[in-house]
Amino acid sequence: MKTDRIKKKLKASLPEKRYIHSLGVADTSKALALRLGEDPEKAYLAGLLHDCAKGMSHEEMLSYARERHWEPDEVTLGALQILHAPVSALMAREEYGVTDPDVLDAIRYHTTGRAHMSMLERIVFASDLIEPSRDFDGVEDLRRLAREDFGSCVIACIDSSIRTVMDRGGLIHPDAVFARNDLIAQRGGK
Ligand SMILES: [Fe+2]
Ligand SMILES: [Fe+2]
Repeated sequence: MKTDRIKKKLKASLPEKRYIHSLGVADTSKALALRLGEDPEKAYLAGLLHDCAKGMSHEEMLSYARERHWEPDEVTLGALQILHAPVSALMAREEYGVTDPDVLDAIRYHTTGRAHMSMLERIVFASDLIEPSRDFDGVEDLRRLAREDFGSCVIACIDSSIRTVMDRGGLIHPDAVFARNDLIAQRGGK
């Protein structure tokens, strides 16, 4: 599907704020990809569609996943706000015609991360937090890190998202812990 059509369809299926956020993640992902030597088109597409299921309720997402024989793990069932990531990957393939597994994985793992994240996955993960419409304590520090030291930025983004979930008393998905440990181990530990 051409980008213009994707945008039209996405705009019609998301609340306006979420659509603007999606454009922000697409632009930020593309800019990072260009700087880091990754494919800017893949980054833009993954950023654009990363939240494409967010127009659905949690119940609708669950049905959508199960109708396609995708059963969420126990932690995801106890923390349904992360379900939109794998369901967005299912929708990107089925409703938006995305077949590239790199793009689909970047969408699927954008909330938790995972061990051995590709550079594209890291780019979309970080862009989700630092795109221009985001406004939370510490976002400026993450943006500065993204400019100066992308490796540290990704770790700081994972720390920030784990901390947010902990402050809410929520469940930490093991993939988030695997992502963090893996990134820190790659840096030679601390
Ligand atoms: Fe998301
Ligand atoms: Fe997002």
